[in-house]
Amino acid sequence: MSCHDCLSRREFLTKSTLAVAGAAAVVAGCGDGQIGPTAAPSLNGSLTLKVSSVPALATVGQLAILPSDGSVAVKRTGAATFLALSTTCTHEGTRINLLGNNSFECPNHGSRFDADGNVTRQPNAPGNASHLLVYTTTYDAATDILTVSALPG
Ligand code: FES
Repeated sequence: MSCHDCLSRREFLTKSTLAVAGAAAVVAGCGDGQIGPTAAPSLNGSLTLKVSSVPALATVGQLAILPSDGSVAVKRTGAATFLALSTTCTHEGTRINLLGNNSFECPNHGSRFDADGNVTRQPNAPGNASHLLVYTTTYDAATDILTVSALPG
């Protein structure tokens, strides 16, 4: 019997192996079956910044994401007071994004947080988000230097 369109044994094994490898890569991409960002890094140690170098911090109530890895959000709460929050989602650890300049949204399951770190919308997946981690802040008005410490505030 002749089979013009049949695969050879070698072709079949090659195509089967590629299909299995591709499926395994998709399954390994995310533990909850959703395609999305991986866990966000947290602040290690502390960071310092000159407040006047961050335009958003000139206005009370506005949020700024810092530093270059985006692991911390800072909000000016008064002339010499600041609030620093982790930008790691408390649901499953994804980096949250600014939503406007006074709230956050997680791209993974849609949790939302206000500028004080309170949950305003729970995730659209099993489990709950909780208040964002608050870091300790110290401000030196003489030098305009803000220090954010990884120690919980
Ligand atoms: S990881 Fe942020 S809502 Fe699920």
